[in-house]
Amino acid sequence: MYKIVSKEKLNSSVELMEIEAPFVARKCEAGQFIIIRVDEDGERVPLTIADYDREKNTVTIIYQVVGYSTELLSKKQVGEYVEDFVGPLGKPAPLHKCDYVVGVAGGVGAAPLYPQLRKLHEMGVKVDVIIGGRSAEYVILAEKFKEFCDNVYIATDDGSLGKKGFVTNVLQDIIDTGAKIDEVIAIGPLIMMKNVVKMTKPLGIPTGVSLNPIMIDGTGMCGGCRVTVGGKTMFACVDGPDFDGFEVDFEEAMTRQTMFKDLEHECQIGRGA
Ligand code: NAD
Ligand code: FES
Repeated sequence: MYKIVSKEKLNSSVELMEIEAPFVARKCEAGQFIIIRVDEDGERVPLTIADYDREKNTVTIIYQVVGYSTELLSKKQVGEYVEDFVGPLGKPAPLHKCDYVVGVAGGVGAAPLYPQLRKLHEMGVKVDVIIGGRSAEYVILAEKFKEFCDNVYIATDDGSLGKKGFVTNVLQDIIDTGAKIDEVIAIGPLIMMKNVVKMTKPLGIPTGVSLNPIMIDGTGMCGGCRVTVGGKTMFACVDGPDFDGFEVDFEEAMTRQTMFKDLEHECQIGRGA
């Protein structure tokens, strides 16, 4: 059993939870994920680690309340326990020492991006971040990124905060300044990551992406996260979740994600959720 030590509502559908999990906190690296099970009968939900504190023995997760299991999790309060918190799983993100990295976060994608950019900053890399959301309410972690990013750019679809438009519009602005970007790390909806790669690939700017959203049980056994990377079949939960964005077949990943969304929806209806 794993104790919830703090909980925070980041917006109407996104919450942060800090969980006491000494083993995971000691071993985890940016990019890895955990599998949480809220109670004995709960399904296994893979969530990328949003932060960790090796002294406090805690791991932070950020989740969108979108279905039966995340609703159950959301009902848990500080001081209560979750049944299982297994990890760290997956491979650490491949972070390289260089001069300048731009992080691109779409919605909840800001959560897994946070530890990656902080690690790069600790490695002496200059980091900027672009955070996108449908509106001001959906832009998360801006204050936390300000702790180490030189620039925190914000884009909202409706223009209620920062630049009106997508994160890709802000990325274009940065590219247009002529700044030499050594690498881009994009984490968010598949369509966003695909469109970031569409911009960076012709310019030869290496781009990392995270395929966490296509994972289902996170065990390497269900086959749900199968994806083609560089012409080879890979599994996001075992070979990733982070991959070279130039090599990912996004069309296939998006088709597969839709396929399982329909099944999930049917399953939730079955549960009366
Ligand atoms: P959203 O649909 O509101 O999009 C967030 C932002 O992404 C937008 O504000 C925009 O700036 C950008 N974006 C969206 N569509 C775009 C497009 N066509 N071109 C360029 N940019 C675009 O996202 P949401 O509702 O907050 O959902 C979060 C998404 O992030 C979910 O799809 C979830 O699966 C995904 N996610 C990904 C990871 C990961 O590891 N990659 C982790 C957590 C969540
Ligand atoms: Fe099931 Fe990867 S999520 S095999």
